[in-house]
Amino acid sequence: MARDNFIIAIDGFSSCGKSTVAKAIAKELNFVFVDSGAMYRAVTLYFLRNNIDFTNEQAVKKALDNIHIDFIPNTEKTLILLNGEDVSDAIRQMEVSDKVSEVSAIKEVRKALVAQQQQLGARRNIVMDGRDIGTTVFPDADLKIFMTADPLVRANRRFAELTLKGEDVTLEEVIENLAHRDHIDSTRAESPLRQAADAIVLDNSHMTQEQQLQFVLEHYNKKKK
Ligand code: DC
Repeated sequence: MARDNFIIAIDGFSSCGKSTVAKAIAKELNFVFVDSGAMYRAVTLYFLRNNIDFTNEQAVKKALDNIHIDFIPNTEKTLILLNGEDVSDAIRQMEVSDKVSEVSAIKEVRKALVAQQQQLGARRNIVMDGRDIGTTVFPDADLKIFMTADPLVRANRRFAELTLKGEDVTLEEVIENLAHRDHIDSTRAESPLRQAADAIVLDNSHMTQEQQLQFVLEHYNKKKK
């Protein structure tokens, strides 16, 4: 069925700055921004807090029925609510980062979150970032960007972000966590991270945020309806 809304899908490796670019575009175009990774993180946080055994399919299914995720978009900082509680900061902690790739490889988790993501983009202009947005969630997205950057540049960015928030981590731990997540995300059976055939590659290793925004806007202007 033909759609009237415009969907921008931004996929790529961990800590490439996908959300930063996505947020800037959403602000510029007045689109809704959805950080799909935050949804996987919220589910992971719930599992950790409630000691859910990830390997037990029944326990996972039951837990998913008790999880409700909401976004309060387009405020200064997009808030993510887990069963009504603001978990925007809690989901960025290393304990969650350490487990989120394992949780997001679970078939039932993906099924539930992909359905919610598709609903979020059903009728509005949206920018969604993640790993499988252009391949699985919105294979018919109007503009697909695949972001990548040098692994060390990515690790340094994430390290700076975490230490600024007062997290006690070393650069080595961050490098290891990113490599681990990239590996699981790219090799899992359920909608692995891969570049869609019609995606435009954006390597931002040596680009400013403004340059990245202009790059995406240029492509948007070529495709806009
Ligand atoms: O974008 P992020 O680093 O906050 O995402 C956290 C994890 O969630 C990431 O390691 C992989 C997973 N993820 C996913 O599997 N599919 C998505 N669409 C988004 C994130």
